[in-house]
Amino acid sequence: SWTPGAFVDLTVAELKEKIGGDKVVLGLSGGVDSTVAAMLLHKAIGKNLYCIFVNNGLLRKNEFEDVLHQYKDMGLNVKGVDSSARFLDALAGISDPELKRKAIGNTFIEVFDDEAHEIKDVTYLAQGTIYPDVIESISVNGPSVTIKSHHNVGGLPDFMKLKVVEPLRMLFKDEVRRVGAELGIDKVLLGRHPFPGPGLAIRILGDITAEKVRILQEVDHVFIQGLRDWGLYDKVWQAGAILLPVQSVGVMGDERTYEQVVALRAVESTDGMTADWVNLPYEFLQKTSNTIINRVKGVNRVVYDISSKPPATIEWE
Ligand code: XMP
Repeated sequence: SWTPGAFVDLTVAELKEKIGGDKVVLGLSGGVDSTVAAMLLHKAIGKNLYCIFVNNGLLRKNEFEDVLHQYKDMGLNVKGVDSSARFLDALAGISDPELKRKAIGNTFIEVFDDEAHEIKDVTYLAQGTIYPDVIESISVNGPSVTIKSHHNVGGLPDFMKLKVVEPLRMLFKDEVRRVGAELGIDKVLLGRHPFPGPGLAIRILGDITAEKVRILQEVDHVFIQGLRDWGLYDKVWQAGAILLPVQSVGVMGDERTYEQVVALRAVESTDGMTADWVNLPYEFLQKTSNTIINRVKGVNRVVYDISSKPPATIEWE
């Protein structure tokens, strides 16, 4: 029967044999899948693995710094590339969800191509693709989606001419987490919720500005930190906040306000294909709502999303 230990031994041996002394480049997202893929390759080929972690400016609050720091402790060779401004420029004025995804995907490819170019003589591109990605062709670890959807042979960026290695292709998420534990990856990292590649861009309905990203990062931070403090984080498959393109009237002291509305979303799921909204304690919701409205300037109303998938999706875009 399948065990994480046997999987690690076999996969490391196969990777060694297949890759030999060649160089591999891998896009890290900070998520479970790309991290586990990186650690397997690291075990197999050591310093010939070059990891790139791109800050698209649409990550959670402090995520770029925190995740980079965590990778340092794991002995991985990671280059952090802060391309926030480039992504925000590419997104300027775009409101349509699919156009946002395209703009982000294209920018990601440009950045990744520049970076891969600097590492001479790379042979392989490694990805954290897992089995549900293969069957659904939608990935929760971002970069692989955009790479896969750009199969226009011909003017391919250099890094896309690389041979692809996907050591997790046959695994489900829970198996990936068990393999990660076997490799000694930190529990907190392995327990991280899925987060979409386009990041907060698809949780800001309408066009994207640096200010909206900042507001949503603050709201999201209060919500996620609250889930952790209340011991609820691990009971939830995925959670986040959505900045609605709606302003509502509120009152502060003697003044009427006219500010943003945010929605909170938390779902239970096993693979993201179906999902139920989570019955979070009223007291938690009440506290979280108060903290958000008191702390985050520009937000005066919080609502909770009680829709399940299907027919609603997990994300709003
Ligand atoms: P939906 O909203 O379709 O989301 O119910 C299912 C899962 O997929 C994630 N998601 C994405 N992941 N690129 C990604 O890498 C995307 O464009 C994308 N859209 C949705 C979503 O966060 C959830 O985990």
